[in-house]
Amino acid sequence: MRTSLSLSLAVLAFSAFTAAAQSAPKPSAANAHPAKTHAAAPLTIAPTPPMGWNSWNFFHRNVTDKDIRAAADQLVSTGMKDAGYIYVNIDDTWEGERDSIGVLHTNDKFPDMKALADYVHSKGLKIGIYSGPGAKTCGGYAASLDHEAQDANMYASWGIDYLKYDLCSFRKDVMAAKAPDDKAEQMRLMVAAYDKMGKALKATGRPIVYSLCQYGWDAPWEWAPALGGNLWRTTGDVRPDWMSIVDIINQNAGLAKYAGPGHWNDPDMLEVGNGKLSLAENRAHFSMWAILAAPLLAGNDLPNMKPEIKTILTNKDVIAIDQDKLGHQGTRAYVDGEVEVWTRHLSGGAMAIAVLNVGSDRVATHPFHLSLAKLGLKGPEACKDLWTGKDVTLTDNQSIELPSHDILLVKIASPK
Ligand code: GLA
Repeated sequence: MRTSLSLSLAVLAFSAFTAAAQSAPKPSAANAHPAKTHAAAPLTIAPTPPMGWNSWNFFHRNVTDKDIRAAADQLVSTGMKDAGYIYVNIDDTWEGERDSIGVLHTNDKFPDMKALADYVHSKGLKIGIYSGPGAKTCGGYAASLDHEAQDANMYASWGIDYLKYDLCSFRKDVMAAKAPDDKAEQMRLMVAAYDKMGKALKATGRPIVYSLCQYGWDAPWEWAPALGGNLWRTTGDVRPDWMSIVDIINQNAGLAKYAGPGHWNDPDMLEVGNGKLSLAENRAHFSMWAILAAPLLAGNDLPNMKPEIKTILTNKDVIAIDQDKLGHQGTRAYVDGEVEVWTRHLSGGAMAIAVLNVGSDRVATHPFHLSLAKLGLKGPEACKDLWTGKDVTLTDNQSIELPSHDILLVKIASPK
């Protein structure tokens, strides 16, 4: 990590005030007597943000059965499965034609979906698939309009564990066709379509993660959880370039209160290892997705993954931030010029701090000064730098040299 902290070895002072106390749930009559309460049923679907791999960001339209099997193999052999990447998700372009009784067949690239699902399951992984509420997917393949229950049942019969449901042609086929001049009615039609598939999935009796992909239209964070959505895209499509990553981070500031166990804001799949993202940019992207409690769906070329990309994707400390069981999404504490400071409250009273240098020309000769006071902390704070693995101490007004597009990500186990 190129971040250089002027480390203080000062003896840590104690303070009555702790951020942990601020964020920790207050004891209530109910949890004071746990034996007398009825424990809520444990969440079986997405209790933490789903982790896995999706075919779209690298393969786009070219993905085949062979690529999905190879991805499953690689998740196991690279240690990514052990790090938590469980879902192997087939995105668009697996679909063939519907037959005379409405059954949707696969195309030539996917000769036997049940056999493919069995293969993925045999590796101890889960498998996801893709469709949409319109007549066509974004890639122009057959989608689920008027066949929702039939498709959901077919997915369940194949053993599918995850569905990404992408709005695409529903906008033209239904929203614009039925309510050309009524935007509010268009949105009601869209919500009803997602509700319909949510109910169809539930009716199968199989636990299937339900991922809404409608680019954040009409604030899905407000209505998607009620219809069974486990995650919902908050923005348009991510691209493997810095401006796209920053744009998406900005659009997710303010959405923290809508995320929690079983229902997550989705800033889109990971581009780590794709395009021309630098190592710093890959690190910053992955760190910020962890701060945002985002689903971590890698989208890179797993068989040809470079070691430094594997190191990023399998950083257990960063993944632990993302997967923290409290499920409190991080928030942007403050912005100072081109530097953003984000915090995330974690279980056990711990806290993550991310200092992100968004700017392209703010270089290390102008160190940024971190205000702990603005984070509700007094310091000095004993932290672990999650990219170097080293123990560091943060003091108020700490000078931090952060290269352009890089990030400092630390965890404080016991904030003061
Ligand atoms: C949309 C989605 C992408 C991907 C493509 C597939 O653009 O947002 O994530 O699924 O469709 O066609």
